[in-house]
This record gives sequence, structure tokens and C-alpha cells, in this order.
Amino acid sequence: MNVKEVKKIAVLGSGAMGHGIAQVCAAAGFEVTIRDIKQEFLDKGLDKIRESLGILSGKGKITKDEAAGTLGRIKTATDIKEAVRGAHIVIEAIPEIMDLKKTIFKEVSDNVPEDTVLATNTSTMSITEIGSVVRNPSRFAGMHFFNPPNRMRLVEVIFGRETSGETVDLLYEITKIIKKIPVRVLKDRPGFIVNRINGPVQPLLSAILDEGKIKPDAIDAVQKKLGMPMGVFELLDYVGLDIVYHGMKYYEKTLSPEYRPGRYLDERMEKKELGMKTGRGIYDWSSGKALIDMTLETSEITPGDFIAVILNEAVKVFKEGIAESAQDIDQAQVAGMNALAGPFALASGMDPGSLSSSLDKLSKRYGLSILKPEPEIADGSFKKMLKK
Ligand code: 3HC
Repeated sequence: MNVKEVKKIAVLGSGAMGHGIAQVCAAAGFEVTIRDIKQEFLDKGLDKIRESLGILSGKGKITKDEAAGTLGRIKTATDIKEAVRGAHIVIEAIPEIMDLKKTIFKEVSDNVPEDTVLATNTSTMSITEIGSVVRNPSRFAGMHFFNPPNRMRLVEVIFGRETSGETVDLLYEITKIIKKIPVRVLKDRPGFIVNRINGPVQPLLSAILDEGKIKPDAIDAVQKKLGMPMGVFELLDYVGLDIVYHGMKYYEKTLSPEYRPGRYLDERMEKKELGMKTGRGIYDWSSGKALIDMTLETSEITPGDFIAVILNEAVKVFKEGIAESAQDIDQAQVAGMNALAGPFALASGMDPGSLSSSLDKLSKRYGLSILKPEPEIADGSFKKMLKK
């Protein structure tokens, strides 16, 4: 299928990711059908799209006609056959439960022609395994958006083991048409690029919370004052502690047992205090924003320590051949997290010795061997990766 032939996109799931994906596809001129199991979920998703289009037209970023046109191109359906009928691309954004994803893709695959491109928005899970149930896995790939999809620019386009280059190329072009930045992910490894390089931050934060000596506000306040869009703990709440928790459980199985969520996160899950969406998590979100005590600060754990942690994992991702280049890793971090710069660029002017000692310090203090520095950090040769 040629990219010009793509007219209709079906989006499965109308939650935080699904409705945002539908919005950006419709804004780019595609006919979109969103599918969810209940009409009330679809109505909520549509309300969020209306709200977002209202904000954009209120600010003069789009015209009222463009907002109406976008909305006019979006249909809803609870029946899956109706939703995928005539679709050239189907993008799934349902909960991160492997069996659920497989069941839905089996049904989709039975109801579309073999050349329909099927994509999953999974954050961490195996593209190859999800795609194993479809009739034509060469047309199956990952298409990973970032939250909130209407404002974050990155889409990771991910190869499963059976995915054809043609399928990834098509999704790469579509990503540009919907005004996002595509980055190819060459290997189907847990977390792909961005969630993987930021992955070790989660067990670290979990350990800091369990230790209870440093207040999350102190770490976040320092970062926010330096211009980061959100503090590291604030971001966990924003994404949802349940999403973080399930992601860590998946990494525990697939990357290292050290990803196991700690006591603090277990308790939040039990109490259903999941962050922004429940009004309470690590922070109080009852006003709609995280209530962070910006007067606190700490020098025990610094923004430089987090750069070292992310860089260390980025070096592993580079060596495993998951990304096309270190530049792509940097670009993905900037576009996917609104980071000021990627880990390679940020660390290029830093002293390898201090990066290494940051990692040794954290690894010892929190008993996390996954934070031990890679040899290329200690000897500074990571700096050459960016030039390749
Ligand atoms: N639709 C469109 N625009 C909107 C909007 C909406 N619903 N709501 C607000 N806006 C606009 C505002 O009008 C404002 O526009 P302006 O810049 O022209 O003034 C702009 O968006 C910023 O809005 P706010 O002031 O309300 O919010 P912030 O400045 O705090 O930015 C944020 C919000 C973009 C979410 C920012 O905090 C951020 O970048 N955070 C990091 C998010 C992140 O890292 N996401 C990735 C998470 S990991 C992930 O998704 C992976 C997945 O697998 C889990």
C-alpha cells in the first residue's frame, strides 16, 4: 500500500492515548473511527477532543473551521467490525494486558484484508508476541505515541521480528503527515528506546520512596527550577502509578528482577492512589496540578545523577542496536519527554569520572546493580557514539 492510498484510520480505545491519537490523525485529514467497548467511554474521549480543539482554536493555533473539520472526520463505534471496515491502518491503544491485545488483534485480523496495516501503541510489550495472532505479521508493527499525544511530538515506529521494512516505512511517513517526529526502533526489546532508557529511573525512584529519607518534592523542585517540564516523581503521577507499576512488573520479567516495584508503590496500588487521574498519588492532584513544595531542595541526589542513569541505559540501547544511531536516541528523548536535550548531548560536556561515580553511588546506596556504569561511561568512549 502506498502512503497516498491511506484515507481511513481506526483507533481502538478512547482513553488518554486513544482519543489523542484519533485527534491528531483527524487533524491531518484522515477519516477516523474510534472504537471502545461502551458508548460512554467514547463520549468521554470525544469531550476531551472537543476540549483540546477548543483550546487550540481559542489560542489561534487552528481556525474554528479546522476544529470543526477535525471533529467532523471522527466517528465512533462500539462494534469492532464496523470500526475497522475500510480502514487502511488500525492503531490499538487499549490497556496493557497481553491477552486482551491478542484477543482484539485476532478479531481485527479476521475482519480486515491482509494488506491492512495493524499497529499497537504498547509502551513496553513485545510487538512480535502481540502480532503473532494476526494473519499477516509482516503488516504488523509498533506505533508508540507519548502522553499527551496531542502535544508530545515523538512516535516510535517499531519492528517486530516479522515486520516488513515496507510497513515501517509507511508508518514512518504517516507519522510525518500527522506532524509528529518518527524514530525507527530496529529491535523489539522491552521499552523500545525512550521508555527503556528512562526505565532504570523507576526502580531508583521506588527505592528512594521506600528509603523515605529524601522528599520527592526536594528532588522535583530542583529539576523544575532548572527548566525540566516536570519533576521525575511528578511524571510518574502524571503517567499513572498503575501504568508505571505494570511496566515495572513487565521489566522485572524481561530485563532484571531489580525492576520489581517496592513497598511504597505496592501500597499506592492497593489504595488506588494512582496519581493525577485519581487526584492523589505521590502528590496531591486535587487542584488538577501536582502540589509540590517548591521551597525544598536536596544535594543528595542531583539532576546530574539522573543524566548519568539515563545515559548509562542509552549506552546499552546503542550497543544492543535498538536505535539507528545515538542521534536518534537523543532526538527520541527530546521529542518524547520534552527534555531539553538527549542524554548523549547532555553528557558530552560532562566529566566521565563524575558520571561514573554518580552511578556507583546510586548503585551502592540503593542496592541496584542495573545502575552500575557501563565501561564506555567510565572511560569516556560513550562520547564517540554520537559521532558514528
Ligand atoms: N490540547 C492542546 N493544547 C493544550 C491542551 C490540550 N488539551 N491543554 C493545554 N494545552 C496547551 C496550553 O494552552 C499551552 O499552550 P501554550 O504553550 O501555547 O501556552 C501548552 O499546551 C502547555 O499547557 P500547560 O501550561 O497547561 O501545561 P504545561 O506547560 O505544564 O505542559 C506538558 C504540559 C506538555 C504535559 C508538559 O508538562 C510536559 O511536557 N511534560 C512531560 C510529559 C512527558 O514526559 N510525557 C511522556 C511521558 S512517557 C510516555 O508517554 C510513554 C508512555 O508509554 C507511557
